[in-house]
Amino acid sequence: MTKLREASFGLLSCVFFLFFSLVSGVTDNHQDKQMYVVYMGSLPSQPDYTPTSNHISILQEVTGESSIEGRLVRSYKRSFNGFAARLTESEREKLAEMEGVVSVFPNQNYKLQTTTSWDFMGIKEGKNTKRNLATESDTIVGIFDSGIWPESESFSDKGFGPPPKKWKGVCSGGKKFTCNNKLIGARDYTSEGARDSVGHGTHTASTAAGNEVPNTSFFGIGNGTARGGVPASRIAAYKVCTRTGCNSASILSAFDDAIADGVDVISTSIGSTPSIYEMDTVAIGAFHAMAKGIITVQAGGNSGPYPKTVGSVAPWILTVAASNTNRDIVTKVVLGNGKTLSGKSVNAFDLKGKQFPLVYEEYVTKCNNESLVKGKIAVCSPPVGSELAVAFVFNNKKDYALVSPWPVSSLSLDDFDSIGSYINSTKSPKATVLKSEAIFNQAAPRVAEFSSRGPNIVAEDLLKPDITAPGMEILAAYSPLASPSSENKDKRRVNYSVISGTSMACPHAAGVAAYVKTFHPEWSPSMIQSAIMTTAWPMNATATEAVSAEFAYGAGHVDPIAALNPGLVYEIGKSDHIAFLCGLNYTGTTLKLIAGEAVTCTGKTSPRNLNYPSMSAKLPKYDSSFTVTFNRTVTNVGISNSKYKSKVVLGQGSKLKVMVSPSVLSMKSVNEKQSFVVTVSGSDVNPKLPSSAQLIWYDGTHNVRSPIVVYYTDYTTSVVT
Ligand SMILES: *[C@@H]1O[C@H](CO)[C@@H](O)[C@H](O)[C@H]1NC(C)=O
Ligand SMILES: *[C@@H]1O[C@H](CO)[C@@H](O)[C@H](O)[C@H]1NC(C)=O
Ligand SMILES: *[C@@H]1O[C@H](CO)[C@@H](O)[C@H](O)[C@H]1NC(C)=O
Ligand SMILES: *[C@@H]1O[C@H](CO)[C@@H](O)[C@H](O)[C@H]1NC(C)=O
Ligand SMILES: *[C@@H]1O[C@H](CO)[C@@H](O)[C@H](O)[C@H]1NC(C)=O
Ligand SMILES: *[C@@H]1O[C@H](CO)[C@@H](O)[C@H](O)[C@H]1NC(C)=O
Ligand SMILES: *[C@@H]1O[C@H](CO)[C@@H](O)[C@H](O)[C@H]1NC(C)=O
Ligand SMILES: *[C@@H]1O[C@H](CO)[C@@H](O)[C@H](O)[C@H]1NC(C)=O
Repeated sequence: MTKLREASFGLLSCVFFLFFSLVSGVTDNHQDKQMYVVYMGSLPSQPDYTPTSNHISILQEVTGESSIEGRLVRSYKRSFNGFAARLTESEREKLAEMEGVVSVFPNQNYKLQTTTSWDFMGIKEGKNTKRNLATESDTIVGIFDSGIWPESESFSDKGFGPPPKKWKGVCSGGKKFTCNNKLIGARDYTSEGARDSVGHGTHTASTAAGNEVPNTSFFGIGNGTARGGVPASRIAAYKVCTRTGCNSASILSAFDDAIADGVDVISTSIGSTPSIYEMDTVAIGAFHAMAKGIITVQAGGNSGPYPKTVGSVAPWILTVAASNTNRDIVTKVVLGNGKTLSGKSVNAFDLKGKQFPLVYEEYVTKCNNESLVKGKIAVCSPPVGSELAVAFVFNNKKDYALVSPWPVSSLSLDDFDSIGSYINSTKSPKATVLKSEAIFNQAAPRVAEFSSRGPNIVAEDLLKPDITAPGMEILAAYSPLASPSSENKDKRRVNYSVISGTSMACPHAAGVAAYVKTFHPEWSPSMIQSAIMTTAWPMNATATEAVSAEFAYGAGHVDPIAALNPGLVYEIGKSDHIAFLCGLNYTGTTLKLIAGEAVTCTGKTSPRNLNYPSMSAKLPKYDSSFTVTFNRTVTNVGISNSKYKSKVVLGQGSKLKVMVSPSVLSMKSVNEKQSFVVTVSGSDVNPKLPSSAQLIWYDGTHNVRSPIVVYYTDYTTSVVT
């Protein structure tokens, strides 16, 4: 069992999720130095403050040298304050103590983490969906990724007018890289040029905001119209990743620029292990984006199904899990005795029904030996590594399909065994592998096994991920420089390809955020986030796995159309986020730098009282009974003179008692705010499982739903996968 797990994870990281190994930023003449990011909070408001000269003088001071050549790598000065520099250990220590410095952290490496998916969510093609085209055309989606393929049909500017007036960005994608009225901007922080040679960035950009392109498919598989959530919107590409990774210093530069360039939504399919906010680049950048009214959407990570793996942990970010849609890609294996087995993979090779000798290779070494498997169909245990064999069938059925550079089908253990019996039952066993087909899958949405799970280990009372969106077997635009299987030996080149990951779920949610913004351009990031969360489809806990439930999917599955009209929203301003940070014991001095204004942490507010659209509490050591409260305030964005009643639905097996006071909210006018307190108590609850409930405010039209999750410290020790 352990082996299988290890092997399957090897595949997950290497082949599929574009595993990025550590990039060393160290050059020969800086052997004793490492690159660090020095974060200094908001830009000071003094008119005579010049960030770069301040950064240089700080560096001169800590190094004691007047020439700091090669030391200053980046200077953040457009949207917040800080720099990236090469420092020795003692210089780092000195800097961390300096006034004005919030945090100093190593330049880390981050990982990059369709067609029917928008239909699945109720956004239909062309004129069949309500759109606010004029505003949509003025909406700019910033994509932080591996660059973009500007010539893709998904980014053609046919029918587009000039960029919106508010756009202040540039097109500096390098040689032979041109923008147009659809792809209005590009910046490169990798010195490779903004052109995408990985495929990932082209895929995510087209998923969020690509044009409607009819008749796309992966060699005929999954054919249909490829499109993003807001096809009329503009795209700005910020290249922060290469095949080998994406680093903190570059990601922070992209935030510095994108905020000042005037993007409306930022999509970051980039993740890491959970980290405290002042050392988490995406959290830092997204905080300043939020302060300027820009929503940041981030992939939750691909480290599931294990608990505590969600890497996107800040309340000012919309964190996205990945789930399937009702289109399932399957690959059938037909045995010589006529028996057909259905496995997973994206197999574009057509063996035309030809049967090949079937050999059972129990050992990985044999399957890897080309001369042993050539011309046969080998039944193997993963990992497999040779493209010469005609086909592999392996005993590791996943819940999603991988593009393979040769005919492959991964089968369940039962099917694997039935192949074994067939081989034993006949002298010359034979089989063939069919080209993949798309089938209708009723069991959707279900969270992917790979999707990272909570609890959030940085803010234990903040439920993450927030929502789930399609992230399995997504067909979208691709870079013809990359191989669709990410294997060098795979010489096929495509304009559209199928990938899975929370990386693919993120731009779906970013597309939804942009879609909501086109109808409510004045809404703040927290209003958009609240609208998306409280209108999400409830998920089936049993179908995912009861032990994770909300820790896998947060509030549920995004529902773009419902998100346009949430009725009530939970608003959170910058000062509320600051109060939340006070509650996490950040000091007033640090918070003053981050916020760029005086901060006093008066009587610590519990992080549980952050006005978040979900409610979560971690309880200390098991006690037979407990009571926790959550204070919340909703704003009426529906109609005047509405009356909302509260309703509580308990999760499966939940023994919680939930009281809502007041239990009815009467809203006389639009924009009116009303507060209430949710008191959750319990006795005799299972300490090894999370206990959940849903609070629903309803007025006959809207169902404003928030998950409530309570768990004990013992929770994670009990999780078995
Ligand atoms: C769709 O694409 C396929 C192959 O890419 C092509 O053979 C077919 O003619 C196209 N159909 C239409 C309607 O464009
Ligand atoms: C996809 O291709 C199949 C087979 O050629 C065809 O029957 C189907 O109509 C196509 N679907 C779309 C959405 O183009
Ligand atoms: C592959 O198998 C052949 C035949 O058994 C053997 O001669 C050869 O050494 C093996 N190659 C490797 C790389 O193990
Ligand atoms: C097939 O036969 C081999 C050798 O007798 C045996 O070890 C194996 O368990 C059999 N497999 C199945 C699935 O019956
Ligand atoms: C990809 O698109 C280009 C034009 O953008 C076209 O010339 C090429 O044939 C397409 N490739 C495939 C495999 O469809
Ligand atoms: C939830 O999923 C389980 C397991 O897949 C299934 O048996 C059950 O019918 C589903 N419940 C609903 C309400 O769909
Ligand atoms: C903050 O500090 C107080 C007092 O030391 C402590 O009780 C509390 O647990 C701390 N909170 C967090 C989130 O660390
Ligand atoms: C929560 O709400 C209750 C009841 O309105 C109030 O007494 C209490 O002060 C509030 N707590 C906070 C931290 O706002």
